[in-house]
Amino acid sequence: MRAAILNGNGPLDSVRMGEIDAPTMGKDEILVRVCAAAINPADLKVVSGTDGGAFLHAKNFPTAFGFDFSGVVEAVGADVHDRSVGDEVFGFLAYSRSTRQGSFAEFVAIKPDTVGVKPPNITHEEAAAAATAGSTALQALEEKGRLRSGQRVLVNGASGGVGSYAVQIASQLGAEVWGTASTAKADFVKSLGAARVIDYKTTSLADIDEKFDVVLDAASMSSFGEVKSILRPGGAYITLLPSLGLFAGMLQGFLSGKRCGFVMVKARSADLNRLADWLAEGKIEASVDATLPLDEVPAALATQEAGKVQGKLAVTVATH
Ligand SMILES: NC(=O)c1ccc[n+]([C@@H]2O[C@H](COP(=O)([O-])OP(=O)(O)OC[C@H]3O[C@@H](n4cnc5c(N)ncnc54)[C@H](OP(=O)(O)O)[C@@H]3O)[C@@H](O)[C@H]2O)c1
Repeated sequence: MRAAILNGNGPLDSVRMGEIDAPTMGKDEILVRVCAAAINPADLKVVSGTDGGAFLHAKNFPTAFGFDFSGVVEAVGADVHDRSVGDEVFGFLAYSRSTRQGSFAEFVAIKPDTVGVKPPNITHEEAAAAATAGSTALQALEEKGRLRSGQRVLVNGASGGVGSYAVQIASQLGAEVWGTASTAKADFVKSLGAARVIDYKTTSLADIDEKFDVVLDAASMSSFGEVKSILRPGGAYITLLPSLGLFAGMLQGFLSGKRCGFVMVKARSADLNRLADWLAEGKIEASVDATLPLDEVPAALATQEAGKVQGKLAVTVATH
């Protein structure tokens, strides 16, 4: 199958387009013909093999890579009874040191209880863009942050993939949302529903003159110590990247009556279907900044690395 292929870790120009074996479907899996994929910072880490990239994907080359996908079920395993050939599904491949699959390719094989049903009125590009970013935002805000209606949340990195979904999902959960972003992307964050947008380059989180029930550090650039003064009593700081400081923050949180948490996103049908419903009803938008064809995955990765994306970059893998 045609795919973006990694022949080893290195700079982005080591990514090549070419042919690689299609994945073999297990008895409890479905084979999905990929129509669209989306770019994540995790893809950059897999290519470089740094920043934890070695824990996200196999270092067994040559390999396909890429996580988010949306497509059409091509075949179902003998033990699968709740999906049929022709179903339109979306989701993301699990982070794993053993996977050699990737969504920047024509096929993925995946367990059916980890995919959502793509609504007919959204595109495959929109569905793929929502998969990791939307699931991460939802799990961080609702499960880890325990965000409730009427509360106030600050999203650090609100113009990025996870952040742009977090602003919209927090609004859906009934919260008042503030966000941080660079000046050029402030209007984008406001358009997503943020009540206030703060430039992280000129105002540090600790200097924000307001208190929050939840601070979601989608950019994962801060620490519990930096934000604890802007958390209300019982408030939660949630980050997306593990670090040594995280464990110190968990202890400080425990001692201060606040919480410091970390989310590692899980692919679950229930979460993906909730995102699908919000997208289908127009309650959230997919935040697709631009869409590129499969052969331009190397260029799309370079755009992501340069920090030029508002929301998400999507990839059309096959015309549909
Ligand atoms: N744990 C998990 O399961 C999980 C899941 C998904 C993602 N992640 C990780 O979470 C991080 C964010 O993912 P993403 O997809 O949202 O990335 P992204 O689309 O690249 O967005 C990054 C965001 O960070 C902002 N930013 C950059 N420097 C900043 C700073 N110094 N202070 C505050 N904000 C800053 C950017 O703002 P401007 O563009 O306006 O400058 C942008 O909004 C990545 O490291 C990713 O690997 C983890």
